[in-house]
Amino acid sequence: MEEIKIQRTEHPAAKPDAHTLGFGKVFSDHMFLLNYDKGQGWHDPRIVPYGPFTLDPSAMVFHYAQEVFEGLKAYRTADGTVQLFRPIDNARRLNDSCERLCIPPIPEEDFVEAVKALVTVDKDWVPDLPGTSLYIRPFIIATDASLGVHASHSYIFCIITGPVGAYYAAGINPVKIYVESDDVRAVKGGTGYTKCGGNYAASIRAGERAEDQGYAQVLWLDGVHRKYIEEVGSMNVMFKIDGKIVTPMLTGSVLPGITRRSCIELLKSWGYEVEERLITAQELFDAAQAGKLDEAWGTGTAAVVSPIGEMGWEDQHVVVNGGEIGPVTQKLYDTLTGIQWGTQPDPHGWVVKL
Ligand SMILES: Cc1ncc(COP(=O)(O)O)c(C=O)c1O
Repeated sequence: MEEIKIQRTEHPAAKPDAHTLGFGKVFSDHMFLLNYDKGQGWHDPRIVPYGPFTLDPSAMVFHYAQEVFEGLKAYRTADGTVQLFRPIDNARRLNDSCERLCIPPIPEEDFVEAVKALVTVDKDWVPDLPGTSLYIRPFIIATDASLGVHASHSYIFCIITGPVGAYYAAGINPVKIYVESDDVRAVKGGTGYTKCGGNYAASIRAGERAEDQGYAQVLWLDGVHRKYIEEVGSMNVMFKIDGKIVTPMLTGSVLPGITRRSCIELLKSWGYEVEERLITAQELFDAAQAGKLDEAWGTGTAAVVSPIGEMGWEDQHVVVNGGEIGPVTQKLYDTLTGIQWGTQPDPHGWVVKL
């Protein structure tokens, strides 16, 4: 990549109170931009003050949703160092998404360099209260002014960041989830394994319905048989059934989560048997009724791990581990957050310092 030009803001914003940070509402002073034009490739990397874009109303992203994104975080350690967690994995996944959406790939090392350069410029925005972090949102949008359904010839790659609060400010509370039998998030052959905006648009209705019924998240079933468990909300999902760890296999409609991969690697290193396979909702509820569902949890960058305390499916309802966080879930949470915030060693080499 060419040298990244840096234009610093003349009007730095006041930093928000780190005690009251939510998620995705406050943005740091700068953003990274890189343009693509056919014949020229990716060009003009730059860091500029955070601000609106001007796009033609016919820009393809508005009509056919040719766009992909990523999500990762920067963490401040006790000695003030700022570090990233497995950013190369986000670079690879972004390119897998690009391939599916016919968007030209970005060299992995350029992605990581861009993230590091932007977080370095806005380093003061990385909060230091326990559990807080700087959320990083890279995304690519198709910008051709054209209503023809084809791949765009021009794109913008942008990265924005913003401080986010501790996910579990009031302690880890296991969540209630609802098995969604009507709407599906993704199907094999579609875009479920990518992070494209359309997947999330398709998931909103079921999420709203579950919330209306007092549930925190949707447990998604596969789109063909409506039988196999895929993900929970915007997280991957894992279960401890009869002593073994079981998680849905990556069939093409499940997002290959980086937290999922990290959990599997940790669990195997601790001697657990981990099965990546098809799991029916029936098997899960049967295991719960038989007292063999020891633990259930979601995995993702936002919450790291999110224990599941109750599950509903049509007229069935089960409680997992007495509605409490289980020991494996707790150990995964403690180990991953320890590595991310630098309070535990990083034997797998996952952390990248700025
Ligand atoms: C649909 C979906 N599944 C799973 C995940 C978890 O992925 P990761 O662990 O890489 O954050 C996310 C969040 O990024 C997601 O949006």
